[in-house]
Amino acid sequence: MKTEVVKIENIEDAKETLAYAGRLISEGALVAFPTETVYGLGADALSAGASARIYAAKGRPGDNPLIVHIADMESLPVVAAKIPAAAYALADAFWPGPLTMIFKKTARVPEQTTGGMDTVAVRMPSDKIAQALIRAGGGFIAAPSANTSGRPSPTTAAHVLEDMDGRIPLILDGGPVQIGLESTIVDLSTGTPTILRPGYITRAMLHNVIGPIEIDPGLIAADSGIKPKAPGMKYRHYAPRAQMTIVEGAPRCVTAAINRLACVEEAAGCRVGILATTENAGSYLCGTVRCIGSRGNEEELAAGLYRVLREFDDLKVDVIFSESFAGENEADRLGGAIMNRLLKAAGHHVIQA
Ligand code: TXA
Ligand code: MG
Repeated sequence: MKTEVVKIENIEDAKETLAYAGRLISEGALVAFPTETVYGLGADALSAGASARIYAAKGRPGDNPLIVHIADMESLPVVAAKIPAAAYALADAFWPGPLTMIFKKTARVPEQTTGGMDTVAVRMPSDKIAQALIRAGGGFIAAPSANTSGRPSPTTAAHVLEDMDGRIPLILDGGPVQIGLESTIVDLSTGTPTILRPGYITRAMLHNVIGPIEIDPGLIAADSGIKPKAPGMKYRHYAPRAQMTIVEGAPRCVTAAINRLACVEEAAGCRVGILATTENAGSYLCGTVRCIGSRGNEEELAAGLYRVLREFDDLKVDVIFSESFAGENEADRLGGAIMNRLLKAAGHHVIQA
């Protein structure tokens, strides 16, 4: 299959492309598209066959459910049952935007879309191309991140092409995404609202709207033996090809420790990648240093993370040492979501400087 990449500069001039993309979706084919978080790999969420194609293209385990993307509130009850008042409050505050909510599913949603679960994840993205594609494709698009399973999520159309070339007919290129980390997932299908995946919408932001909110205990510990409630969070996702180690401690101790470790690895003939911040980048003495952004700007760090993990893959580094972004009140800052992805990429391999 030939994969076509179509650049969309201006949505008004892209009517034909979007109509064609919508037709592909209606016919059960896959279309990759930008969202404000990461690029998605879309298919008709109400078609069992179309959803099954997503799992095949990504090499995704069949028990890992997909998020259903909608473009208006009228679509919500079509896929979600027993919608609590808190969901409407959260939708009011954060939709369209980087928040996914989990509900009991309706009979309209095939089990292929929800990985066999009786719940469904729903998100209304704010990206204009995403919204236009959802409308053109019939209103319900199932979309995981458009990477092959186990690779960092794509934040540009070029990343999608790396992973999906020859497997899907069309990639809509809307330029680099805004946020760079997947949406926050909140489970509203049980009594207590619970965060299953941290993201741009932090615990503090959610708390402001609906009051107390829990964090899935399966998210926090490295090998607590507690299974995360979002099936996808149990996999070693976002994994660079190299073994990654996160180094924690006071800034000067961290750069010194990374220098020691990196120089030893390099002397042993390994290619070393160092995931750094602008503040410290100049302090590294060996290895290939890549900056994800400035410590003072967590949005910049989030936007740079997956790009740099992919660069390390391209550079074929053998080991990666990363600065840490852990800190106080992590769940209330974007830094918590960054650390969550970094810890998963590192398989929770952390050392203290
Ligand atoms: O920002 C995003 O959410 C992106 C863009 C494309 O919208 N999508 C995304 O999808 O990150 P994906 O498939 O890479 O991650 C979806 C996560 C997985 O961890 C999955 O297990 C969880 O959501 N999930 C989906 N449905 C669920 C359900 N019914 N119950 C619990 N977890 C669910
Ligand atoms: Mg994903």
